[in-house]
Amino acid sequence: MAAQAIDLIRVKELVAKCLEARKMAYCPYSKFPVGAAILTADGAIITGCNVENASYGLTVCAERTAIQRAVVEGHRSFTAIAVTCDIKDHFVGPCGACRQVLMEFGGQWVVYLTKPDGSYKETSLEELLPLPFSPRHLGKD
Ligand code: THU
Repeated sequence: MAAQAIDLIRVKELVAKCLEARKMAYCPYSKFPVGAAILTADGAIITGCNVENASYGLTVCAERTAIQRAVVEGHRSFTAIAVTCDIKDHFVGPCGACRQVLMEFGGQWVVYLTKPDGSYKETSLEELLPLPFSPRHLGKD
């Protein structure tokens, strides 16, 4: 099944929300704010930012913060994620750990890599994480 086409107005909304979420980042150590916004299958948008910790390894990325918020709010079916950081001259993808966490909830994500000026590049989780290990390998759909 291919990732589905998303209405341009919704894409722009998603992109705007990830830019807003980036402003909330708690990143006193890296000073590298990241924002994410997830579009759920039923049309909700849930945001996340990175939340760092003095014990550096406990830092949680923006994408994972958003996923965890979404699950708490009852969502398990997702359509797209927009992600942004402060890098202006090229599009930046989610880290490997976040790609795997997205895969937990299906391979059909559309991913919008977003620059601070709101321009974005559309890609997909399938493209970002080829030959994945997924719940299917543990007998779960
Ligand atoms: N970070 C994210 O929030 N998402 C990613 O996909 C990559 C990295 C955060 C973690 C840390 O707070 C900062 O960016 C620098 O690594």
